Amino acid sequence: MRTYKQRMPDDFHLHLRSGAMLKAVLPYTVEQFGRATVMPNLHPDPILMGLQAEMYGNEIMSYGFNSFKPLMTIQITEKTTAQMIRQAQEAGVIAGKIYPKGMTTNSENGVVDYKSLHKVFLQMEASQMVLLLHGEHPHSTSSLYRERDFMDTLDYIAGKYPTLKIVLEHVTTAYAISTVKMFKNVAATITLHHLLLTLDDVIGGKLKPHNFCKPIAKFESDREAIVEAAFSGSHKFFFGSDSAPHQRSTKECEEGCAGIFTAPVIMPMLVEFFEKHGKLRLLENFTARYGAEFYGLPRNEGILELVNVPNHLPKEISIPELNDSVVVFQGGQTISWSIKGVSHA
Ligand code: NCD
Ligand code: ZN
Repeated sequence: MRTYKQRMPDDFHLHLRSGAMLKAVLPYTVEQFGRATVMPNLHPDPILMGLQAEMYGNEIMSYGFNSFKPLMTIQITEKTTAQMIRQAQEAGVIAGKIYPKGMTTNSENGVVDYKSLHKVFLQMEASQMVLLLHGEHPHSTSSLYRERDFMDTLDYIAGKYPTLKIVLEHVTTAYAISTVKMFKNVAATITLHHLLLTLDDVIGGKLKPHNFCKPIAKFESDREAIVEAAFSGSHKFFFGSDSAPHQRSTKECEEGCAGIFTAPVIMPMLVEFFEKHGKLRLLENFTARYGAEFYGLPRNEGILELVNVPNHLPKEISIPELNDSVVVFQGGQTISWSIKGVSHA
């Protein structure tokens, strides 16, 4: 039996939700990750202020997973002020997230006019708070062009605030990857599902709602560029799962929610994927080093161990309190790596 060991990884983009959903999904992340950047797009009340982030962090920690550190964020809207950024920083908030208005799950209060955030960006720059961007332009002629068309906005912010640390989240196109490379202060997160999927895995045959997310998976040439970036050894590209659980009933319906729930399968599938391409030696930096460096955090202490034994992925996780379940990405398959555990040697 072969084993794979690496420094405890980080997930730099994660949706945990709250209440019964949080309780159901959190254990899958804490068994694999030392820290995770927790997204603020809660419904009905998004996390907009430091105090709310602190309370949400306390809810996450109330489950007693003491080795896990949630990296808290606030959502930046056009109502965010520089003072709110300062208060959030004092409350331990590490990053601010911008959703373009209406572009994804719970983004109704998102931003239209980025120029109106001048003082907010200056304060974030001064506070070294990371700016997380959902990079989709709302007025593209096609949803397939939204990320490409957002690059002008990225260009504007990155150029005007050269010491603001910016992460283009869940990058999905070759074009965006080449744009990210142009700016010293810009990095990008890469998800597991965008390493694996193209648009045809969503709509090429029968409709696959559990492969549907924002930004939607694009063409094979884009997927190849994402894989190349993940394997490049560039410090600009690091892991963020965008694991986004939704109740099954809200995905399998007339207006299905965007979001793919990958949390239970991430590290086993990443090990399998990197090994298949002969790149396993690059996985530790991608998941446990480059992101921490960009955020200005120390690396995690523990060691995560996986073993090469068949792993039958669960199809869904049931949530009795909600009388529903959440479907697992590629659930039902058997893959070749399983999580063994964490050691602190
Ligand atoms: C995310 C969610 O469900 O909150 N959905 C998604 O498709 N990725 C929001 C987001 O990150 O866009
Ligand atoms: Zn997300």
